[in-house]
Amino acid sequence: MKAMKVAVIGTGYVGITTGVTLAYIGHQVTCVDVDLKKLALLRSGKAHIYEPGLEELMHLSRERLKFTDAYAEAVPDADVIFVAVGTPSAPDGSPDLRYVQAAAEGIGQHLNSKFTVIVNKSTVPIGSGNWVESLVQSAYEAKNGKKAKGNFAVASNPEFLREGSAIYDSLYPDRIVVGAEREEALETLYNLYRPLIEQSFPEPAFQPRPNAMKAVPLISADLASAELIKYAANAFLSVKISFINEIAALAERVGADVTQIARGIGLDSRIGPRFLQAGIGWGGSCFGKDTAALVSTAKEYGLSMPIVQAAREVNYRQRERIVEKLQRELKILKGRTIGLLGLAFKPNTDDLRDSPALDIAQRLIKQGVKVRVHDPIALEQAREQNPDLAVEYCQNVMDLAEDADAVVLVTDWAVYRDLDWEGMARLMKKPLVVDGRNFLDKRRLEKAGFQHVGVGTGTNPQLVTAEG
Ligand code: UDX
Repeated sequence: MKAMKVAVIGTGYVGITTGVTLAYIGHQVTCVDVDLKKLALLRSGKAHIYEPGLEELMHLSRERLKFTDAYAEAVPDADVIFVAVGTPSAPDGSPDLRYVQAAAEGIGQHLNSKFTVIVNKSTVPIGSGNWVESLVQSAYEAKNGKKAKGNFAVASNPEFLREGSAIYDSLYPDRIVVGAEREEALETLYNLYRPLIEQSFPEPAFQPRPNAMKAVPLISADLASAELIKYAANAFLSVKISFINEIAALAERVGADVTQIARGIGLDSRIGPRFLQAGIGWGGSCFGKDTAALVSTAKEYGLSMPIVQAAREVNYRQRERIVEKLQRELKILKGRTIGLLGLAFKPNTDDLRDSPALDIAQRLIKQGVKVRVHDPIALEQAREQNPDLAVEYCQNVMDLAEDADAVVLVTDWAVYRDLDWEGMARLMKKPLVVDGRNFLDKRRLEKAGFQHVGVGTGTNPQLVTAEG
């Protein structure tokens, strides 16, 4: 394999994982970020995000990995430059592209005459490839006084990694998607990813290769299709989750169990068993943002996306359902003390973006509830990022349980399954647990003295909400 020179602009989740993975499979990678604190940490071999395996892989790749705040140190030599900066949602749901713009301009100012592929890794709206190309071109022209002629091409290479499994997903992806108009760019990306496609890199001891894994399919597409693949994949998964949550609401009403239904439909190979876990719904940085962006892009083109829009509504409704379940059990919420187990939007991450727990906390506070929160990893971040949120941060689940009227399992962290539930039941005013992920062992909890209320389990008819 020919080692390539790679620059990665932005060291967020996607950027750092991409950079470290490419260094691990043999390329020379320079990561660029404006945040000097982050850079210092990364240079010392530490990751600024909690992601299992990331520091280990960084360590194994350290000789091929550099960190800098200077485009001049990364861009001129690069064969491939990844743009992996944030694209947060603007208030109207459209993505805020100012960081992508700054990166494209920085790249344009530092490109030299050798052929470079500029890859959009950030989830950017359809058509951004052309826009990035024109930004790079203008910045190049402003700097060099002449047009860049054929020395760069823009490509799209969407990322499908899940937080908490980012290293696994990067080393063993279901597929790699690349999109570009120029054949040369597609060829360069094929060569870059060859060790992943052929699975020829050494398997790291802490992240073994799945048994059946032989080769990874590479999908070569045009630019717009590659851009849309990312949105379509995330929207589809969002719809799948909201679909099962909608079925869960009906299951509760008719006395059926949504977990059995999910199994019953998931074994149909056309449907598949994954992403059919009913519960509080999705949070995180992708599904909410990408479904909003898809709806807003469709609108620009004179279309509506009723299915995706409905998935969003169902999802955010799930959070209110938890409050309704508590209300049904406790009757009056005002003055109650309720503990939330888990703040991160899902386990094995400290990411609090679009965190269902923070949303539920706010809804409960509005109802006059005293809210306590616990998370194995994200407690301090939550405190720092939400200085105005009037909750009690508990280091210990026993402090959370003491004299509480209920606890809600919001994030399915493995440690919550084996808490000292007997001890907690003794401490609580009312041993009620609302299991927002259908994650806990109901029978065990009931033996410990708890009343266990799940989502869509239908075992408790009085849980049904007025509108289903
Ligand atoms: C997602 C996509 O999976 C990934 O491909 C994309 O690149 C980024 O967005 P991520 O947000 O890290 O990844 O998490 P994921 O594991 O997909 O879970 C998203 C949310 O959906 C979590 O809040 C999770 O709890 C929830 N979820 C997931 C469900 O409620 N039910 C399910 O069955 C699956």
